[in-house]
Amino acid sequence: MTRFKHLTLMVCVIVVCRGQHCEKIAGGEKCEEDDSLEKITEDDLVLDDILVYTVATEETDGFQRYKLSADEFGIKPVVLGFGKEWKGGDMSGPGGAWKINLLKTALREHKDQNKIALFTDAYDVIFLRKPEDIVRKFKETGAKVLFSAEVFLWPDLKLKDKYPVVEEGKRFLNSGMYIGYVDQLLELLDREEVKDTDDDQLFFTKAYLDEEFRKKIEMKLDHKSEIFMNLNGAENEVEIVETESKEHHKYKLKNLITHTEPMIVHGNGPSKSTALNYIGNYLPNGWNPNDGCVSCKVGQFDLSSKEEDLPYVLLALFIEYPTPFLEEQLLKAASLEYPKSRMHLFIHNAAKYHTDHVDTFLEAYGTQYKSVKKIIPDDATTEWAARDLAMDQCLAKECDFLFVVDSIAHLDNPHTLKLLIAQNRTVLAPIMVRHNKVWSNFWGELTKDGFYARSNDYMDIVQNDKRGLWVVPFINSVYLINAKLLKRFDRKTLKYSKDKLDADMAFCANLRDLGVFMFASNRLDFGHLVNPETFDTTRTEPDMYQIMDNQRDWESRYIHPDYPENLNPEKKPLQPCPDVYWFPVVTRRFCKSLINMMETFGKWSAGKNEDNRLEGGYEAVPTRDIHMNQVGWDRHWLFFLQQYVRPLQEHVFIGYTHDPPRSLMNFVVRYKPDEQPSLRPHHDSSTYTINLALNEADVDYEGGGCRFIRYNCSVTKTKPGWLLMHPGRLTHYHEGLLVTKGIRYIMISFVDP
Ligand SMILES: *[C@@H]1O[C@H](CO)[C@@H](O)[C@H](O)[C@H]1NC(C)=O
Ligand SMILES: *[C@@H]1O[C@H](CO)[C@@H](O)[C@H](O)[C@H]1NC(C)=O
Repeated sequence: MTRFKHLTLMVCVIVVCRGQHCEKIAGGEKCEEDDSLEKITEDDLVLDDILVYTVATEETDGFQRYKLSADEFGIKPVVLGFGKEWKGGDMSGPGGAWKINLLKTALREHKDQNKIALFTDAYDVIFLRKPEDIVRKFKETGAKVLFSAEVFLWPDLKLKDKYPVVEEGKRFLNSGMYIGYVDQLLELLDREEVKDTDDDQLFFTKAYLDEEFRKKIEMKLDHKSEIFMNLNGAENEVEIVETESKEHHKYKLKNLITHTEPMIVHGNGPSKSTALNYIGNYLPNGWNPNDGCVSCKVGQFDLSSKEEDLPYVLLALFIEYPTPFLEEQLLKAASLEYPKSRMHLFIHNAAKYHTDHVDTFLEAYGTQYKSVKKIIPDDATTEWAARDLAMDQCLAKECDFLFVVDSIAHLDNPHTLKLLIAQNRTVLAPIMVRHNKVWSNFWGELTKDGFYARSNDYMDIVQNDKRGLWVVPFINSVYLINAKLLKRFDRKTLKYSKDKLDADMAFCANLRDLGVFMFASNRLDFGHLVNPETFDTTRTEPDMYQIMDNQRDWESRYIHPDYPENLNPEKKPLQPCPDVYWFPVVTRRFCKSLINMMETFGKWSAGKNEDNRLEGGYEAVPTRDIHMNQVGWDRHWLFFLQQYVRPLQEHVFIGYTHDPPRSLMNFVVRYKPDEQPSLRPHHDSSTYTINLALNEADVDYEGGGCRFIRYNCSVTKTKPGWLLMHPGRLTHYHEGLLVTKGIRYIMISFVDP
């Protein structure tokens, strides 16, 4: 088999050479061998020079992606206008004819050489196939000049009736991508004079609608997207599908309407910040199930610098509303594996409720940071202003990165900051999700109005079935911004306000408009989000009420660290009296909080037989108590019974299952010498009873305990957070022992009455 190589000519031309032969076709230019390119077979040969051009003035994220995709296929584009000031007018309206004038000049050098030139935009274009395929397909169309087609007519809607009607595919010309023979292209570009700020699409449209001219240069549109795919209005036409297994690339783009496999894709119009980015996450070689995230490795580096060489970071904490489990959230932020001597701290607290939490945090850690700026509720700084201020503060402190962390974002992984810096992206969010939910800090897709929509891969990403680095249209809650971005755009352009949007939506909309990619990573677990929706700070101990909405955080704070050991089949449960079991279940913090809830409420019952809180209005063995429903905590307690008590019961009283457990009587009892110091012997009307000690014997009170009369066995010196469980109505006749000093609190439930 004869071996051939791709060779590179000048900077721009991909030439296919065979030995000395290529010097001839390349017009005397010297051929350089480039072994890094793959060997191809004769079948793949296209003996034309193909010149690839684009226009880009600066190194945007979109341009980097364009270049990466070109690299993937050995395409070496000539970049026109790079480093120059954009002369094509304001691109939110008509404009862009500067591109025509740049290309005209560039192509003149290649007149009369029978070459083919491909032009595409840069910031919103991705190559999907090798140039040989593109040229072959172009030749099959029989056109000498082939333009991409799109669904919408732009910019002159009056021209609609002049457009030839097509039976299949897209009807209208789009000037973002075209290919043709250089000589015909030059005829087209020279058809009339055009000013840099004129509209390039209008220029080409007029040429195309001139039937005589169109026929003369054999100009056609790629209606069926054989080569060019414009996404705007046609986002749903395409799908990413697997290629046949022999291919190097795992995925390709398929047009489901025209049954073609587009070779270059263009995110024209609003599709550039949604559909195109989605495709770019996978194609041509961003992510696949075998290799995982190929694009993750691009540009990332090892951040193992010595402490004094680490970049400066401004850690910006935003507490915009009362948030459950903020103490832990702040503690995790303080526990990042990053020297505080390289960090500045910025806190915007807009919630009076958290004043003490913030002050406690600052007392413990404030002095360790290089600097601290605190904005308190009384400053009445708006969220928009505070977030803008953090960007300016970052510049003022000459920081290298701004790390934005909102109060709902828990940095469970202390390496998060380092990992984000090492990933080396301009704007990068670590993906965080609410526990057991699919609510996260990014959106996969936008609606036409810029609101939330779910992308095809959203579920796979939030559930970590796919791990990688994704360009997405919206992020919030926690993200790292490279300070270079803050220098590049001032606060008139890059800011947290726009129209009447909330701060996050405005910021992301501005980033999209500026062509700045928002990356979101779930390469690793970084942390999770808490749900602030039901957090009610009018309650005493509001976090206690979060057992259902933020269960994982609730457990970390309130469930005893030894709780899981209770269920260890290897271990024998403690049994201080016959069929009385004793388990560590909740933390001291739980006990303190529950007592506080009750004492703050304060309406202890009179300890009389008449009790209008009960259905029958009568209590045979009354205590001084407060029922859970009096403090609005009954649903929460039943949930606690179901989640944490039922498994213990099933573990020790085998064969009895009742899920969920029922309980009508759930209350905290107060024993006090001068009030009610003890309780006479009685049976409980329950299948089983739980008795949770809330404070400490010999410290908070003296005496007390529970005596099981039938067994003449007492449990005294009960421990806070430990729960006694015993059968109810028949065997475990019991009494509450005398409290001689102080106050004893216990929590009681009669389960399954
Ligand atoms: C970080 O990414 C930029 C491109 O965005 C690249 O130029 C640079 O080399 C990367 N840095 C490292 C240390 O790899
Ligand atoms: C009950 O136990 C106590 C001490 O454990 C003992 O002094 C007493 O005699 C016992 N009473 C009966 C009736 O067994």
